[in-house]
Amino acid sequence: MIPTPEAPAPRSAAAPAAAARGGAGSFHTLWNELAPIGRHADSGGYRRYAWTGADADCRAWFRAQAESRGLTYEVDRNGNQWAWLGDPLAGDAVVTGSHLDSVPDGGAFDGPLGVVSSFAALDELRSRGAAFSRPLAITNFGDEEGARFGLACVGSRLAAGQLTKEKAYELRDGDGVSLPEAMERAGYDPETIGADPERLARIGAFVELHVEQGRALDLSGDRVGIASAIWPHGRWRFDFHGEANHAGTTRLVDRRDPMLTYAATVLAARQEAALAGAVATFGKISVEPNGVNAIPSLVRGWLDSRAADQATLDTVVTAVEKAAREHADRDGIDLAVVRESFTPVVEFEHALRDELNRILGGSVPVLGTGAGHDAGILSAAVPTAMLFVRNPTGVSHSPREFAAEDDCVAGVLALADVLEGLACR
Ligand code: GLV
Ligand code: MN
Ligand code: MN
Repeated sequence: MIPTPEAPAPRSAAAPAAAARGGAGSFHTLWNELAPIGRHADSGGYRRYAWTGADADCRAWFRAQAESRGLTYEVDRNGNQWAWLGDPLAGDAVVTGSHLDSVPDGGAFDGPLGVVSSFAALDELRSRGAAFSRPLAITNFGDEEGARFGLACVGSRLAAGQLTKEKAYELRDGDGVSLPEAMERAGYDPETIGADPERLARIGAFVELHVEQGRALDLSGDRVGIASAIWPHGRWRFDFHGEANHAGTTRLVDRRDPMLTYAATVLAARQEAALAGAVATFGKISVEPNGVNAIPSLVRGWLDSRAADQATLDTVVTAVEKAAREHADRDGIDLAVVRESFTPVVEFEHALRDELNRILGGSVPVLGTGAGHDAGILSAAVPTAMLFVRNPTGVSHSPREFAAEDDCVAGVLALADVLEGLACR
């Protein structure tokens, strides 16, 4: 069941309560409403994985925010949520938003800050009495982190035609549940997924606000920045096949232990990344049979690697694979390496980036990032820009991720200024 657009709301329909609060008050309320959803009691981190119950609760929250503001709510063919002020079909829309899903034990800000700030910025604009000359939409893109099915930005990749329906149907979670099964269980029709050029053609500009995932703004003393570029990045799966055997009785010389080869590969990844000025991380592994007293038969490790340019990234990944193969030969291990995803470098459109800087007074710092975003995927199809909000520790993808409320409100006001400058001309 794909929900169809509901009756369009009048363009000027303001939700009086929300608009009366303005951006700051609205942010506070929205943030506190969303905060408990999907938070794990022990870790304090978020487990909002695509098409699970926590995701459904986040989606229900989004829909309620849209409807309480008199916005036209719809879900697109790929399960992304949209809330429209003005005619969704008019074209040249200004769109803002982010994602509500999380990495395992993720922080509160990565994604939700952009969605909450979008609703708060709309409330701010309504409290200013802004008159819109272009349609405005707020979005929640599905499955940005790829925590469940391994591929990041599934909702935006499908929409932009960078992931085919066939490939999407092959995605499986750790329990063997396929993406279409998961969508169906969550009440969405997976038959319709695929490229959505007509929808993307309605967008004149997409602006994603996001918590910074580094300390550049903290070091420069700025609350808000503008994105310049996203590093090319990808995920590679390394399967080390050895031989299961008894941990107590198998002589060291007789072992074919894939854990050893995996460990040597982790060290090689660190070394190659350091040499190249890149980053490389093995953050997820699975071990079979996973017994404390058994030599493993299989160690599967996922490499995430990123660099400022494509050539450097290629150098790092090639060197890590070479080191892994050399160790595998020595250890009697069979190795298979599969690239599971890849995102080329993204250079955000200069004209829109300059326009944002002009709207915000001309002296906003412009910074690159090693983190992936839906904005990066969409940038191939529509003019796209990003705003970053200061993160005083730089920590992200962790329960310790943090941004001060004053800085978040500065982000809301900056986003409101940008939306006003773009959509109220
Ligand atoms: C998403 O946050 C990523 O950069 O992996
Ligand atoms: Mn993230
Ligand atoms: Mn994010």
